Amino acid sequence: MSVDFQVADLALAQAGRHQIRLAEHEMPGLMALREEYGESKPLSGARIAGSLHMTVQTAVLIETLVALGAQVRWASCNIYSTQDEAAAAVVVGRDGTPQDPQGVPVFAWKGETLPEYWDCTEQILTWPNGEFANMILDDGGDATMLVHKGREWELAGQVPATTDEDSEEFTVFKALVRRTMESDPTKWTKVAEQIKGVTEETTTGVHRLYELARSGELLFPAMNVNDAVTKSKFDNKYGCRHSLIDGINRATDVLIGGKTVVVAGYGDVGKGCAESLRGQGARVIVTEIDPICALQAAMDGYQVARLEDVVGQADIFVTTTGCFDVIRADHMAAMKNKAIVGNIGHFDNEIDMAGLAKIPGITKTEIKPQVHEWTFENGSSIIILSEGRLLNLGNATGHPSFVMSNSFADQTIAQIELFTKQGEYDKDVYVLPKHLDEKVARAHLAALGVQLTELTKAQAEYLGVDVAGPYKPEHYRY
Ligand code: NAI
Repeated sequence: MSVDFQVADLALAQAGRHQIRLAEHEMPGLMALREEYGESKPLSGARIAGSLHMTVQTAVLIETLVALGAQVRWASCNIYSTQDEAAAAVVVGRDGTPQDPQGVPVFAWKGETLPEYWDCTEQILTWPNGEFANMILDDGGDATMLVHKGREWELAGQVPATTDEDSEEFTVFKALVRRTMESDPTKWTKVAEQIKGVTEETTTGVHRLYELARSGELLFPAMNVNDAVTKSKFDNKYGCRHSLIDGINRATDVLIGGKTVVVAGYGDVGKGCAESLRGQGARVIVTEIDPICALQAAMDGYQVARLEDVVGQADIFVTTTGCFDVIRADHMAAMKNKAIVGNIGHFDNEIDMAGLAKIPGITKTEIKPQVHEWTFENGSSIIILSEGRLLNLGNATGHPSFVMSNSFADQTIAQIELFTKQGEYDKDVYVLPKHLDEKVARAHLAALGVQLTELTKAQAEYLGVDVAGPYKPEHYRY
């Protein structure tokens, strides 16, 4: 078997394989799916184009999809997030060598340029024998956008001219579609016809899918994996509870105990962050705009305040909102000397980095990669983590395997659901049926020594549920 691929260095494969082996032990959800479906191979015939951070945990996901019968091609959904040793190990495969790779085609390396990034995304949708992908597994919606926009522009006969309004990324994206249209004017139309469905990992991608569905432009059924309970209530909360502290420690190594920390936002991510900071002995102050979440924070024992009123008291600031301009330049100018500022929400603009850079007389000193001291004219300084981007990925390695086992088991089940039940789903966006969400949670219990109580038949009747579940109505909030 010959594998086409583009990764940093296949010599890293052995190091990657060791990490994958340890990760498998911590990903019981994915291993249970291999056990359950390894023989029946429900994904036989699926050609999955995967666009999701090429990490060690993702390697376990990829090899699970293959164990279930799928053919897979993979790219990262972020130019910085690839773990090169994981990418190498996936290409080499269990039975191959760097000289004779036997694994899965991966097109990803840490530090891609934007043109390289989009080339990689094209590669995963294009099979070498002239075939195309027939399923997409997406994180952020870029692969889905390429198929939709590519087809739209093919039908229009041209890619719209580049304008000053276009971001650098969109300009590069348009250039890619122009190039593919020159070599094959109906490429994306053909790909769109092949795709049976997409499963989407994140808020941003899900948001794009709902917009397409609303405007009637969605070309295939979509599964919103983000809003599975076993994703957002676990990855967002417990994942961040782990990786926030990890990021702050690796970046600064300051003692968190006894410090005052402001957490902006008390949604799933904010709840996890506040809990872990309190666990370290910090005094946590929450800011919120939603009265329900503000009340939750207060009842959980946190002070809830406005940033303006506490900005001069806190030692560490963490944004978790998904909103913009949450920490402004004037806030940062009013902070204590050596205050630490970081973001763990989705976008780069929660902290107004552009405004900070414009403060007259300010200077920036690199302490180490992803840790910068910004010094004001009066000599006072603050420490910014990951240039205002996601600190848990920039300063640490993101979420650990066990929590990703939940999210990726959801992804795998969503792929099986859409691939094997073609015709049962319309061109719309769906969430995982609750019994499958419960199945994913159940697969993780034994590893933690959880003994689940079983309902008796009479109890089940009393509650109006089935003994085997689902146990909660759709509107239940957990
Ligand atoms: P959420 O919607 O549950 O929580 C966000 C909270 O921020 C809400 O309660 C909202 O009322 C509050 N908020 C909004 N604007 C605010 C403002 N100006 N000031 C104070 N509070 C404000 O969302 P969730 O699930 O907690 O996710 C938050 C962000 O984190 C999203 O952008 C998500 O994509 C991202 N995320 C990041 C992860 C990571 O690994 N870094 C993992 C999971 C999610």
